[in-house]
Amino acid sequence: MKDTYEKALEAAQFLQSKLPEVPEILVVLGSGLGAFADTLEHPVHVDYRLIPHLPTSTVVGHYGRQVCGYSDGKCVAAMQGRFHFYEGYTLQQATFYLRVAKLLGIEKLILTNAAGGIDPSLAPGDLMLIEDHINLMAANPLQGLNDERFGPRFPDMTEAYDPSYRAIAREEAARLGIPLKSGVYAALLGPSYETPAEIRMIRAFGAHAVGMSTVPETIVARHMGMRVLGISCITNLAAGVLERPINHDDVLEVGKQVAAHFTQLLHAVIRRM
Ligand code: 6GU
Repeated sequence: MKDTYEKALEAAQFLQSKLPEVPEILVVLGSGLGAFADTLEHPVHVDYRLIPHLPTSTVVGHYGRQVCGYSDGKCVAAMQGRFHFYEGYTLQQATFYLRVAKLLGIEKLILTNAAGGIDPSLAPGDLMLIEDHINLMAANPLQGLNDERFGPRFPDMTEAYDPSYRAIAREEAARLGIPLKSGVYAALLGPSYETPAEIRMIRAFGAHAVGMSTVPETIVARHMGMRVLGISCITNLAAGVLERPINHDDVLEVGKQVAAHFTQLLHAVIRRM
């Protein structure tokens, strides 16, 4: 049977045959944030179903395709739709596309997501630069035998979110007049949202926002030495912060509202990465 490395090589070779050149940056677009991909120039679309060994994504608001195109002359691949633990994939399956990206030659990663705001400084529609994360998924994508061709058994996570990328994001947001908050992102398995008691616990742990993605991807990217920028779109407040139930339609709707700022910031940051 083929191992992950061999499967990822096959997928990377397939993509190389489809794409105009090896993208410099991979952007992963969270729920409701897919519109960025439609702003890339000279786009080439690749349906996930065509990529060897890739799972197919099942969530409403996620297309399940990759768009490769140009941002101010720089070749960028954007994932419209990612793979979540709660869909039933293992974390190894959910992060396989990053193994593919690395073998394709991509070293720079932008992870975005829709998240619930916990910290009182956050409101729906805010963009939050991810400074650090807390893994509350009770699982790790690196569990199991380590393949040294990808990276070390015990990867360091001290500066998981690249300090110079964070500085670029802050500078570009300020220059464009786009408000950019910052904080710690906690990831849970989902798919149920948290209870108010859970949110009180997560707040006490030091998280500012909560979601169901990104953390496994950051771990796998750092395992391979990729540099990561993370941006959350706060689509709603977490349970108990207000007395209002949370629903996925609101998450998608707020994503659409911030799309213009979000897209503008991404292009500006990409130019300097
Ligand atoms: Cl409140 N919780 C989680 N886990 N994910 C979310 C969310 C909340 N809001 C958007 N995504």
